[in-house]
Amino acid sequence: ENREFDEQFRPQYHFSPPANWMNDPNGMVYFDGEYHLFYQYYPDGNVWGPMHWGHAISTDLIHWEHLPIAIYPDELGWIFSGSAVVDWENTSGLGTGNQPPMIAIYTYHLDSGEKAGRDDYQTQGIAYSNDKGRTWTKYENNPVLANPGIKDFRDPKVTWHEESESWIMSLAVKDKISFYTSSNLLEWTYQSDFNPEWAAYGGVWECPDLFPLTTETGEEKWILLVSINPGGPNGGSATQYFVGDFDGKVFTTETTEVKWLDYGADNYAGVTWSDVPKEDGRRLFLGWMSNWLYANEVPTEVWRSAMTVPRSLELMKNGDDYSIASRPVEELEKLRESTKEQEGDLISLTSDVLEIEMKSLGGDFKMTFSNDQGDKLVIDKTDDLVLFDRSQAGLKDFSDVFAAVHNVPLKGVEVKDIRIFLDRSSIEIFFNDGKSVITELIFPTSAYTELSLQGMDSKVEIHLLKSIWGN
Ligand code: FRU
Repeated sequence: ENREFDEQFRPQYHFSPPANWMNDPNGMVYFDGEYHLFYQYYPDGNVWGPMHWGHAISTDLIHWEHLPIAIYPDELGWIFSGSAVVDWENTSGLGTGNQPPMIAIYTYHLDSGEKAGRDDYQTQGIAYSNDKGRTWTKYENNPVLANPGIKDFRDPKVTWHEESESWIMSLAVKDKISFYTSSNLLEWTYQSDFNPEWAAYGGVWECPDLFPLTTETGEEKWILLVSINPGGPNGGSATQYFVGDFDGKVFTTETTEVKWLDYGADNYAGVTWSDVPKEDGRRLFLGWMSNWLYANEVPTEVWRSAMTVPRSLELMKNGDDYSIASRPVEELEKLRESTKEQEGDLISLTSDVLEIEMKSLGGDFKMTFSNDQGDKLVIDKTDDLVLFDRSQAGLKDFSDVFAAVHNVPLKGVEVKDIRIFLDRSSIEIFFNDGKSVITELIFPTSAYTELSLQGMDSKVEIHLLKSIWGN
């Protein structure tokens, strides 16, 4: 039987475009019952090319309706990454209906400018929608932020700052984050830069996000996410974060240690949803599940790339140390079709669309997923380190660096519980309720049929998950 979205490596419950190339999530905003997901999209091929904003909506973060391309390139350039907000008070004056306008703020990348050797080929533009994001009109006086002569000047993430009653734009400017403010989203004023000496600078800074989080005891801190490529802890692309304070103009932090949102190789350019209702209270995150080291070469033809599962970011405090936990959103539990409890050290798997849970662990352990083709995916925890070994996990010859063993330092924290999301070409592992995360692509020759466990005398819950593609 032929069904759509059923190719060998097609994610069954992760977002992927129907066809062709996708990278970063863009413009994530909630409005009138709908989560919008825009994404870097090249509609004419399965490798990176002239960027558009693809578009999908969801009412539950899990099931997605694909919509037509939202924003097309124009004479100012290709449409690179950026954000979207609801302009509740119509500060921009771009609202025309009885609902507030949605405003997208993105980077224009002028390819011909770059080719001509200019430095100012990236600028910021905006587009607006007065019909719940279904159609978008470019602002007539774009760009709204010109380029001062810096090659990397992109990925505006805009948010409303209540205290100062102004819009804040966080912008990646080569290897720093610059903050701009505005009262109307149309005119922007430079305020400050953030680039502490001790941060990770292995590559260019991209895709910032700035938002507050509150600890369980009610203490508020501001979080700055900064994607960096290359220079990630396991090679290539990754996302570092900073916990600090923001006064409407300047971001400061007292920490001096680089923190990574995810130790896996495949969670990049992730940012959070804007305008999620206060009653919900979550800070909802999605990342691009790939790495620029091999994103263009992964062995899929029809489409390329998927997003991570949606996660809620939570602020943890331990002594003076703040860190972020990433928790799979509870809506994911809707995907569970059936659940089995298993014991013993050899578990047979009847599907490659699974969630696996283990509780009350402690000490060292080793987990091996395998099939009868000789593929093996090994997760080996010894003392303070987890080794994630995908060197023999399946297809790997498409890249020189894909087959590798990745390190996840535990920094003195025992692994007590594990939650795993397995899909046809990815695995996401959450330790200790999301305090450490590994997100990785895998391309098993055929589905793993066995899971062998060493050093884990825990019950194992296996949830078979449903496909979101509804057929
Ligand atoms: C991050 C990134 C962004 C840029 C976009 C281009 O992956 O390089 O900095 O806006 O992708 O597609």
